[in-house]
Amino acid sequence: MAESTLFCQVNTLATGPADTAKKHVPVITVAGNVKMGQPFSVNIKVGETLHGMENGHFIQFIDLYSGHIYISRVDFTAELSKPEVTLNVVLHHEGVRTLRAFCRCNLHGIWEGTKEVHVTK
Ligand SMILES: [Fe+2]
Repeated sequence: MAESTLFCQVNTLATGPADTAKKHVPVITVAGNVKMGQPFSVNIKVGETLHGMENGHFIQFIDLYSGHIYISRVDFTAELSKPEVTLNVVLHHEGVRTLRAFCRCNLHGIWEGTKEVHVTK
């Protein structure tokens, strides 16, 4: 797949080229159990091995959603930051929710990583 096609879709582990996917799919980690209405930590880092942040090739932002509901965005600056963030999130409904993180690499497009969380009372 030519790199330009990466900009015409949301790329995932399943759809993106494997070697590029490893460096770009956001990895979501949730600490502990998730209780309805209680804050919990969500760590998101870009790539199994952290993506570089050089001028000319860097991660511009990470967005976090629960399903299709927007939660947060973090913008990054090349050279002065790493593409990893920990957010405090509160979910208000019981059941299985899918956290979805999107990041954008200026050279490799938008990538999505997901993680299911079980929200209990
Ligand atoms: Fe990249």
